[in-house]
Amino acid sequence: MERQARSQPSLPPGPRGAAWLQTARLVRDAEGFLRKNVARYGDPFSAPIRDGTVVFTGRPDLVRDIFAAPTDVISPYAPEHIASVLGPHALILLTGAAHKHERAMLMPLFHGAHVSSWTRTMVEVTRRHAGALKTGDVNALDLCQRIALDIVLGVIFGFSDPARQQQALDLTLEFVGAIHPLQIFFDGLTAHLPAVGPLGRWPKAQAALDAFLRDEVARRRRDPLAGHAPGQTVLDMLLAIRYDDGHALADSEVCDQLRTFLVTGHETTAGGMAWALDAVHRDPAIYARLSDELATVDGGDGDSDGDALGRLPFLGAICDEALRLYPVIPYVPKRVAAPFVLDGHELPIGTGVFVASALAHMNPDVFPEPERFRPERFLERRPTAFEYFPFGGGAKRCLASGFATHEMRIVLGTLVAHHRFQTRGGPLRPVHHGISRGPARRGPLIHSAA
Ligand code: HEM
Repeated sequence: MERQARSQPSLPPGPRGAAWLQTARLVRDAEGFLRKNVARYGDPFSAPIRDGTVVFTGRPDLVRDIFAAPTDVISPYAPEHIASVLGPHALILLTGAAHKHERAMLMPLFHGAHVSSWTRTMVEVTRRHAGALKTGDVNALDLCQRIALDIVLGVIFGFSDPARQQQALDLTLEFVGAIHPLQIFFDGLTAHLPAVGPLGRWPKAQAALDAFLRDEVARRRRDPLAGHAPGQTVLDMLLAIRYDDGHALADSEVCDQLRTFLVTGHETTAGGMAWALDAVHRDPAIYARLSDELATVDGGDGDSDGDALGRLPFLGAICDEALRLYPVIPYVPKRVAAPFVLDGHELPIGTGVFVASALAHMNPDVFPEPERFRPERFLERRPTAFEYFPFGGGAKRCLASGFATHEMRIVLGTLVAHHRFQTRGGPLRPVHHGISRGPARRGPLIHSAA
């Protein structure tokens, strides 16, 4: 209330260069862009971005205010751009009652016992993919992406036919591989540029995945058990959703949600796991401590007691630290949809508000020596939800954060317990892949059988 009284109809200071230039800087090097501007203008600062002015912050008190706002006050940023990739009904874009309703239906699939029920699959999938590795160069991101997608396909569809699962995997990898990072800022980007090179892949990849999803939805509507292993899946839940007036989701709405889960459900986790795998093998002391810890679980043989693996503190701290130092979503993009006061500024409706974990996670008061990969920090002190937020926060917080952290631990623990890797070259550079960020594909690990 007091804040309200002191509010000014103004924006925080910041750079005022051409919007396209600021957008390019942000996409190319988010950390550099954010830190340079905070050093010059303070936190929060504002900058012109492709769709208008955006306010950036990583300050815990302001992050708390933003996460506490309802979704019809602080709503998703530039929904038309995300919609051009995931579809207009994607959960990540929904607000208000529809968001609450659909989220509540899907949430139980990603919590508690449901998460643990996936442990065995997580171990098996990891061992299958890693077991097929030859001695020599391995791209950590490619390996983790295939593992994460194979796992999440089970949660989304539960195929009993391996050929259908493989088809879904190939189509999804082609789809995310064809997404251009600038599509998040320019909807219809591909329509304005010649369909050559990577951009030429997009329409074909989009159409192929769409046809597959529509076909799968039609099959399940005809016969809920068709090609389907027992157990509840995201698709089952989507088909079961009913609104108060009894209406169900249309096929296009179901497909948008499936696309959302396919993309958000593997790229992010894969990026986190690849960073963690790389970091563990860059520091002999971390590797030794983790190996000792893994040996306490069934001799390091993660498959018979995967849940114990999921509870190992140092392994968990490594995953937390990977998501801190290399956030796969360095800023959560939001927009002011109704009057909102931030740090005394009454932000005009339509202003972007980007909540930057890439800033908050580097705060030396919360994370001493922030540039260092030091997992122990998470064993010494748990940061608050406004100091550390790789999964965003508030009503839109990642609904699968519990699933994702469990998965990262199981996959990383299984890989380290059973395989030998060495890093090659200098530290990996973060780059955008699809809608999230991960290590650049160059700079592989070298694998040798354990
Ligand atoms: C390390 C892995 C992951 C990270 C870092 C991550 C991060 C995020 C972030 C930052 C958001 C936006 C939150 C906000 O707006 O405040 C989000 C939303 C979401 N994530 Fe994740 N995510 C991960 C894994 C997953 C997985 C495995 C799935 C599904 C299987 C998933 C599904 C979703 C969905 C559906 C939303 C939209 C939620 C909503 O709008 O209510 N994510 N995630």
